[in-house]
Amino acid sequence: MAVPERPAVPFPADFLWGAATASYQIEGAAAEGGRGPSVWDDFSHTPGKVANGHTGDVACDHYHRVEDDVKMMAEMGLQAYRFSISWSRVLPEGRGRVNDEGIAFYSKLVDLLLDHGITPNATLFHWDLPSGLEAIDGFRNRDTASYFADYAALMVDALGDRVKMWATFNEPWCHAYLGHAAGVHAPGMRDPKAAVTVAHHEQLAHGLGVQAMRAERSDLQLGTVINPSNVRREGSPDADEDEMRTIDGIHNRWWFDPILKGEYPADLLDDLGPLADAIRPGDTAEIHQPLDWIGINYYYDILVRGVRADESSVNRMLAYPTVQNTTESDRRPVHTDMGWPITPEGFTNLLVRLHTDYDNLPPLYITENGCAYDDPIVDGRIADRRRIEYLDLHLRAVRDAIDQGVDVRGYFEWSLMDNFEWALGYDKRFGLVHIDFDTLERTPRDSAAWYRDVIKANEVPA
Ligand code: NOJ
Repeated sequence: MAVPERPAVPFPADFLWGAATASYQIEGAAAEGGRGPSVWDDFSHTPGKVANGHTGDVACDHYHRVEDDVKMMAEMGLQAYRFSISWSRVLPEGRGRVNDEGIAFYSKLVDLLLDHGITPNATLFHWDLPSGLEAIDGFRNRDTASYFADYAALMVDALGDRVKMWATFNEPWCHAYLGHAAGVHAPGMRDPKAAVTVAHHEQLAHGLGVQAMRAERSDLQLGTVINPSNVRREGSPDADEDEMRTIDGIHNRWWFDPILKGEYPADLLDDLGPLADAIRPGDTAEIHQPLDWIGINYYYDILVRGVRADESSVNRMLAYPTVQNTTESDRRPVHTDMGWPITPEGFTNLLVRLHTDYDNLPPLYITENGCAYDDPIVDGRIADRRRIEYLDLHLRAVRDAIDQGVDVRGYFEWSLMDNFEWALGYDKRFGLVHIDFDTLERTPRDSAAWYRDVIKANEVPA
């Protein structure tokens, strides 16, 4: 019998299978239930900031449809669900007054998940900073790190009896650099020093948050979610080592080194110079807290195509959107609707590298991985073959990393359903489930059935 080109790949027993979302991207009910505004409300309501003028006012209306959505998750066979908490739904001004109705919403979500045997995994900060804190300079202000720790303690106090897996941050690089250097995310600033300051205060907030949560309860699995990337040369012999080192520093080592080694990378501090003035003696000790897990969000590698004439520290900081904007010159034929190249081999390399570089690396969870494709609905069915192919390739890449010794404990597909893709609005569709944004009807795509079978068999089929 011929051996299939791609044999079935089983996953370790107890591997945790789930899907992910984030509050501002799905909840809607932006002005209901006592929720205060966030920077993403302000940004999306500013003309010209989000494609087609889309906002998260209604989004997937998950706030009102939470019962049905959890039922849908159960029908898809999900074992775990990663969601984020809207800080301004529970603390409308970001600090001080607590909104019990907001807490009650998340409490209900958690109870529904547990009733359906689905493990909750909660993220505290997925970019929707309360406007009340932006009014005091958001994460540019060191005090916001302490307010974050208070918020973390509040949530653990409210949900920690039932939610054991917590992440402090989601992709803090994006809030720092897309939000404060590129200006394409809220709050829309273009100030490199502000970006580096935010990047540091997010790290400080992570450390203070972990300490505050541990002080509340000792039975929690605490982590954070980072979006590291391979940085590699692509199609340009003149992409120089120094360039790649700095990009790697800003995207990868800045986040892992203080958390796992208790120090920022010295070469990067040299590069940044006075841009990194916000770091104070003793800060890295606060950041360097033991963690139970780290979440990895992976979509594609950063392909460096040579030093450009206008190369500056800002461009290096922003290597990620630079990739998005240069797809025409990218020689790879295969892209998702985001214009992102498909680089599953890079996923394996990245995981193996983290395992090799950090001897105290805690267990990893893939907290996001997925792709945007908009296939048509034909007779009620969506045959999203390209999504299935993407997921197949990336799950095999994860399995390869496990075979090379990396401790990966679970995988959360991004995303459970189509949602508000930040500055790109609703047109980039990442969901296993299609959303009709006029009727809000949910239609599982073929990939949802495929994923349900993967979960059930605990293996990727041949
Ligand atoms: C990472 C972010 O965490 C998530 O919010 C976003 O929708 C996906 N990437 C896709 O871009």
